[in-house]
Amino acid sequence: MRIQRVKSKWAKTNIMLKSDYLRQYMPSTKLFSRSNVQSMLEEYGMVYVKPINGTFGNGVIRVERTTVPSLGYRYQLDTAIRFYPTFEQLYQNLVKQKKNRKYIVQKGIHLLHHQKRRFDIRVMVQKNLSNEWEATGIIGRLAHPAKIVTNYHSGGTPMALERLMTDHATTSELASFKNRLRKLSITIANNLQSAYPNIKEIGVDIAIDTKLHPWILEVNTFPDPFIFRKLPDQSVFHKIYRYAVGYGRFKKRSSRP
Ligand SMILES: Nc1ncnc2c1ncn2[C@@H]1O[C@H](COP(=O)(O)OP(=O)(O)OP(=O)(O)O)[C@@H](O)[C@H]1O
Ligand SMILES: [Mg+2]
Repeated sequence: MRIQRVKSKWAKTNIMLKSDYLRQYMPSTKLFSRSNVQSMLEEYGMVYVKPINGTFGNGVIRVERTTVPSLGYRYQLDTAIRFYPTFEQLYQNLVKQKKNRKYIVQKGIHLLHHQKRRFDIRVMVQKNLSNEWEATGIIGRLAHPAKIVTNYHSGGTPMALERLMTDHATTSELASFKNRLRKLSITIANNLQSAYPNIKEIGVDIAIDTKLHPWILEVNTFPDPFIFRKLPDQSVFHKIYRYAVGYGRFKKRSSRP
């Protein structure tokens, strides 16, 4: 049977929002419009504006209301930073950038830092060989120093969470935090499966704020398994690969080097 993939971030968000349990982990997300961007900037100070069908962090824009009136709004796309004194100027440039693609606007989370770079987390959840959901891998992703996204394809560095969290949690705190992330991610898999019965794997992007609260940024239904080769423990990738062979994503041997 074909593995089901779901592109639309908006469709997946709306399904997950029906769950009271998941809602407490989801940053407010709305369709892109003048009034939604304006009111969310007013309320949260910082937002992410993202293509509904985006990948690799492409087209993702970070917008911040500065505290200096003459500077107005700070806008960053890729490595380009601009300032717009008025909301109207900012909005016109967002519209220009968006072209005719569909976008969402999401409350921005101030990510934790490691060596002055932002990082977030990817959790891999897969159907195991007994056809049950299992959280098979957790990895941190450290953003390129000049960028606002952590994606590997945008210059981010996948890295063991143990290394990234040394300044933020003790070993035992991290162990229980990882358990919490596994439980949360398996709940997401079950939730999405009720709408998309033939999904077999998900990659959950999770931001952690300074209070160590996890925030679900998005859920991928075509997650990259190869970033997990960057972990010192190779058994993680081997299991991920084995399960992916089990549900038919790969043939038995990898064709990638
Ligand atoms: N609300 C947010 N607050 C803080 N950072 C965010 C937020 N949304 C996105 N980001 C950052 O931007 C990155 C890319 O955003 P997102 O994962 O939503 O899209 P994408 O990576 O382009 O999609 P895909 O993972 O399907 O390729 C995230 O991994 C995260 O580092
Ligand atoms: Mg992503």
